Amino acid sequence: MFFQQVSQKEVEAGETHSLSAKRLLMRKITIAIDGFSACGKSTTAKRVAAILGYRYIDSGAMYRAVTLHFQRQHVALTNPKEVTRALGEIKINFQVNAKGASETYLNGLRVESEIRTMQVSEQVSQVSALREVRVAMVEQQRKMGRDKAIVMDGRDIGTVVFPEAELKMFLTADILTRAFRRQKELLEKDELVELDPIIENLVKRDQIDSTRAESPLRKAPEAVELDTTHVTIEEQTDEVVRLALALMLKPTLRN
Ligand code: CDP
Repeated sequence: MFFQQVSQKEVEAGETHSLSAKRLLMRKITIAIDGFSACGKSTTAKRVAAILGYRYIDSGAMYRAVTLHFQRQHVALTNPKEVTRALGEIKINFQVNAKGASETYLNGLRVESEIRTMQVSEQVSQVSALREVRVAMVEQQRKMGRDKAIVMDGRDIGTVVFPEAELKMFLTADILTRAFRRQKELLEKDELVELDPIIENLVKRDQIDSTRAESPLRKAPEAVELDTTHVTIEEQTDEVVRLALALMLKPTLRN
């Protein structure tokens, strides 16, 4: 971390005067990054979190892990009882690996590559549209963000999970750019997929995600929109960090 937080204790003890020259009084904030599939939300969120020393949570990975479990257990999505039972069997958590990257664990086993396959992508939006699934995931996500200092990316983070988030971003990009980015990501994981099925999957997921009854994907009115089509990952990261720092530096003793 390139800065240090002044604790409430120090503030109460009146010690801030001596510390002020050495430390910056920064408040902890919540950063919500929402948007369409493959717009670079996760990459941006990860980098922003690393720069600010914040925790990063990929909410999409949680829905993907639920989907993987449902597929493995052949859960009938149309049967709410079966869905609720299967949800009760799932424990999802994130662990940071030796390279500093956050990885998804399902019931104690690492599933980071398994959840990124096309097989999971094909069904994840149907699974995420289920009310039972959303209630369970949102509850966990709110717990993870209780202490702020978090960057979370997804579809409903600024609208439903953390409506009080200090910084809300909404990322977009044109469909071809998104498809190329996703193809490259899959290729890096040794999965060669033609552009057409990728485009089809992205369009279909956007459609399901934006029209579902339960917390549909939409831009919060106060979210800052960022079109990433012609922007490098460094530029989009810098923009979010710049906006975040402006909010973190606002003097407050609230947290
Ligand atoms: O990485 P990509 O943009 O393809 O999607 P993701 O962030 O991994 O999310 C996969 C899917 O999970 C989305 O298409 C949504 O259906 C669902 N999702 C959601 O409903 N709510 C979230 N907060 C995050 C993801």
